Amino acid sequence: MNILLLGGGGREHALAWKLAQSPSSRKLFAAPGNPGIAQCAELVSLDAGDHSAVAAFCEAKDIDLVVVGPEAPLVDGLADSLRAGGIAVFGPSKAAAQLEGSKAFTKALCDSAGIPTAAYARCTSEAEALDAIGRFGLPVVIKADGLAAGKGVVIAQTRDEAHQAVANMFAGGFGEAGQEIVLEEFLEGEEASFFAITDGKTVVPFGSAQDHKRVGEGDTGPNTGGMGAYSPAPVLTEQLTERAMTDIVRPTVETMAAEGMPYSGVLYAGLMLTNDGPKLIEYNCRFGDPECQVLMARYRGDLAQLMLATARGELEQAQAPQFEDAAALTVVMAANGYPGTPEKGGVIAGLDGAEAEGATVFHAGTAGDANRLVANGGRVLNVTALGSSVTEAQAKAYRAVAAIDFPSGFCRRDIGWREVEREAQQS
Ligand code: AMP
Ligand code: GLY
Repeated sequence: MNILLLGGGGREHALAWKLAQSPSSRKLFAAPGNPGIAQCAELVSLDAGDHSAVAAFCEAKDIDLVVVGPEAPLVDGLADSLRAGGIAVFGPSKAAAQLEGSKAFTKALCDSAGIPTAAYARCTSEAEALDAIGRFGLPVVIKADGLAAGKGVVIAQTRDEAHQAVANMFAGGFGEAGQEIVLEEFLEGEEASFFAITDGKTVVPFGSAQDHKRVGEGDTGPNTGGMGAYSPAPVLTEQLTERAMTDIVRPTVETMAAEGMPYSGVLYAGLMLTNDGPKLIEYNCRFGDPECQVLMARYRGDLAQLMLATARGELEQAQAPQFEDAAALTVVMAANGYPGTPEKGGVIAGLDGAEAEGATVFHAGTAGDANRLVANGGRVLNVTALGSSVTEAQAKAYRAVAAIDFPSGFCRRDIGWREVEREAQQS
């Protein structure tokens, strides 16, 4: 089949890498792509916001499947526009993408389907929010309703901090995303990411991961898109996975279908593993970045076929996803300044040396070509390795990091620390 992949980050490089290995994929195009993706796909210039241009391209190139990497085009209804023209898309409709696009929507769905999640209040004015804060304990979680690139969440330790966060959101601190806010009870526990693939009827688990959102070692400092991840997440045991499927994911898919908004694509559940069992923190309507990189490193099937079956509503007939029984770990190399203003243009070398260590280096924010590669974003490279344990995968990934010459970049040195500690205790 001919495939068009939309996006240009590390997640999309991992998807392109796997799609290019699919026996059923013939020709792979990517827009906008990046220099890493260019090694496995033909890059084309297309604006995902221009739905008719994307549809015209699909027509001209006989595209059988469009894979949408990031959330923004999905929330914007790209999948609806393409499906209206008879094009198969891996990714949810605009209505279904509200699971990521609106926190208030997801909270209401949890209420109606009885899905375990943090207690909450939805507020559309500052006065209402200030009043509601008094009904929550501390810390209290304050979230902008809409998409805020993972930055619209404040965990306030004091009432003052909470008041300030509320005032900032209503003053436009997160743009339109903060016109409405959700206050939440603070959940205690360990976080894990759980992925499921669904065509709106059939749901299959697609692995687990844990990421490190904070920029600093020991999970400190400002939030980022993610500084590293590993898969699987052993804290999400088989029993907890079954509970997450039964209590959270299946009721979500069933309720969305019953309400006339069938969800199709990957559903990424951010879970808190509390003493009362897994609770939903948030949904995303796409793969995690960098969680996708570690999932793809372990996935052992024909990705293009799985995605096409999902897009066509034929997931029931598809082969169940199979993963390598190994640990995968990815270290994000970021440009100095990230998550603030990252330094652009820093020269990168030594990727061959990293690959010689047995790692796969996904490009997240690079520009240039094989002769002269430079940093062109906050998160720049995802150095990914497999091992028989997280400890082994971590050691291999950091040996590969050491081979990379990127003087204007940095990375955390402790990706996977929780699991490495647990593995040390077990041995
Ligand atoms: P979100 O954008 O909803 O994933 O929130 C970002 C991060 O904030 C999550 O990954 C959690 O670490 C934290 N967080 C969000 N909601 C809660 C909550 N109710 N209790 C504790 N931590 C939370
Ligand atoms: N790494 C977190 C996310 O993709 O949302």
